[in-house]
Order: sequence, then structure tokens, then C-alpha cells
Amino acid sequence: MAAPLYNIPGSTPAAAAPAAAQAAPKARTVNEVLAQSQVEAVIDELERDLVGLAPVKQRIRDIAALLVVDKLRLNLGLAAGPAGSGPSLHMSFTGNPGTGKTTVAMRMAQILHRLGYVRKGHLVAVTRDDLVGQYIGHTAPKTKEVLKKAMGGVLFIDEAYYLYRPENERDYGQEAIEILLQVMENQRDDLVVILAGYKDRMDTFFKSNPGLSSRIAHHIDFPDYTQGELLQIAERMLEGMNYRFGDGAREVFAEYLGLRLAQPHFANARSVRNALDRARLRQASRLFADRDRVLGAEDLTTLLPADIRASRVFAAAT
Ligand SMILES: Nc1ncnc2c1ncn2[C@@H]1O[C@H](COP(=O)(O)OP(=O)(O)O)[C@@H](O)[C@H]1O
Ligand SMILES: [Mg+2]
Repeated sequence: MAAPLYNIPGSTPAAAAPAAAQAAPKARTVNEVLAQSQVEAVIDELERDLVGLAPVKQRIRDIAALLVVDKLRLNLGLAAGPAGSGPSLHMSFTGNPGTGKTTVAMRMAQILHRLGYVRKGHLVAVTRDDLVGQYIGHTAPKTKEVLKKAMGGVLFIDEAYYLYRPENERDYGQEAIEILLQVMENQRDDLVVILAGYKDRMDTFFKSNPGLSSRIAHHIDFPDYTQGELLQIAERMLEGMNYRFGDGAREVFAEYLGLRLAQPHFANARSVRNALDRARLRQASRLFADRDRVLGAEDLTTLLPADIRASRVFAAAT
């Protein structure tokens, strides 16, 4: 019996290009594509908002360049392969937790949208549990429901290797993989899949699933942040929340990072965010204890060295 052919509704070639891009005259220069798509604004933002990640940013610029040139080729009728097939844009983002994979995937979705490769540009982030059912017959509807939601955007599958459990030959994950494979091949003009997770596990996963691996056009590796980058990320995060390090607090946080980095389960920028959340809690308790004091903007926005020093990480070190 032939395998069922999955076709997820929501994908129509005519809808793939934004109306504005269709109305405008066909671009013939890189600048015209950039101007029509506004894609450079997203790339500049990525450059500016995200600390470090130089190799990742370079790869994103390279992919954007490829897509812009592909647009120019298309405009001259130089499409590669059969009509409507477009370039393969599925990607893998590998790296440790908290290295910015989800954040960059959201920007990638915007870039793809602005260049007209996906209709909506939203990101649907899922894990195995969102795709795979517990019982026979539950997986296909679950996976298709997720695909339907993701159509016109990016489907981000975190820790994708959990879909494959070779130790259990009846695992329903295989069913989800097969549906994904078909949709990645047949509907790639309207859905981009990004598989994310730890590098070593992803490599093993791809070795066991060559069909999947061969459909991934771009592999991007996210390095761990250095201590200096983590400190910069902390300052950006505080700024974004309208807080700041008071006198000496930055130095204490740097010390904190040094200790925390050496401990297990350190999760890069995510651990930074969590540490700052706890420092804000301590700041709030400190302010709360002084009930009659008039609290000005300075008090309410400043983290003091003590707010950070009270962390368990310091207690364990002494
Ligand atoms: N380079 C960076 N600059 C600033 N903030 C970052 C950076 N990388 C990650 N973050 C922040 O750290 C948190 C975790 O990032 P995330 O993208 O979820 O990592 P991952 O998906 O790799 O686990 C998010 O709040 C994100 O905004
Ligand atoms: Mg993530």
C-alpha cells in the first residue's frame, strides 16, 4: 500500500508572496529587493539586540543574501527546479540551552516573511509531546494539527531527537517524523521547519534519519557565551526591564557568573535571566521591609550588591 500523502491546508502558491511585493515592479537590484522587503531592518535589529553570536549572525546574513539573490533570479525567470519548489529552507539550530536558538528562530521567521518565503512569519515552538500521541491513532492528528497552525510560518521543534527512540520499535515518534518529512518536501513553499537541540544528540539523530538530514539546508551552531558576553546580556536584560546595577553590583554579578558557570546545569543566557529574576525578588523584599520610606525611581530600579550576594551560589562557595 502506498503511504498516505499528507497535504496540510493553508498553503496556496498565490498567497505565498505578500500583496505589496506583487504590486511593485519586479526588483532587479539587491537594493530594490532590500527596499521592497524591509528585510535589512530585521537583520540590523538582530545585530544590535543580540550580544555576541558572531558566527550565527554571519550565517543569517549569508542566508538572507542567498534569498535576496534567489528573488532576483526568480524575477528573471531563472528559478531552479520545478515551478513553485523554491529553495529548501529547513534548518537545524544546535547548541546548549539558553544560547539564543529560539530567539534567533523568531527573527529568522520575520526575515523569511519579509522576503515572501512564508505568508505569515509566525513561529510555532513545539516539543515531542505536542506532536506524538500516547495511543495508536493519536499521533497523525496531533502532528497535523501542529502543522496546520505552523503553515505560513516556522515550525520550531525543540529537542527534535526525542522524536526518534530506536530502543522502542513501536514508538509513535516515527509516525510524526514521516508526516514531517512529507510536508517538509511537498509544502516547503509555505512552511519552514527548524530542528533544535544539543549538537551531539542532533548529530546522532541525523545519522539515524538520513531522510530528514538531507532535507535540512542550513545547519547553524550556537556557541556558549563567554563570561563577558553573559555580563553584557545581563545589562541588556535589566535595561529592558527598567532596572540597573547600582554601585558595585555589576562586579558582584560578574563574580556570581564566574561561580555559576562552573556549576552543573548552567544554561547560558537563560540562567542569567533566572538569576536576575531572583535578584529582583530580593530587591523587592528589601524595599518591602522598609515600610515608611518614600521610594523614588532610583530605589525602585536599582539592584544593590547585596541583592546578588545573597544568592546560594555564594553560600556554596564559602
Ligand atoms: N545574544 C543574546 N543577547 C541578549 N539576550 C539573549 C541572547 N541570547 C539569548 N538571550 C535571551 O536569553 C533567553 C534564552 O534564550 P533562548 O533563545 O530561549 O535560548 P535557547 O532557545 O537556545 O534555549 C531569552 O530570554 C533571550 O532573550
Ligand atoms: Mg529554546
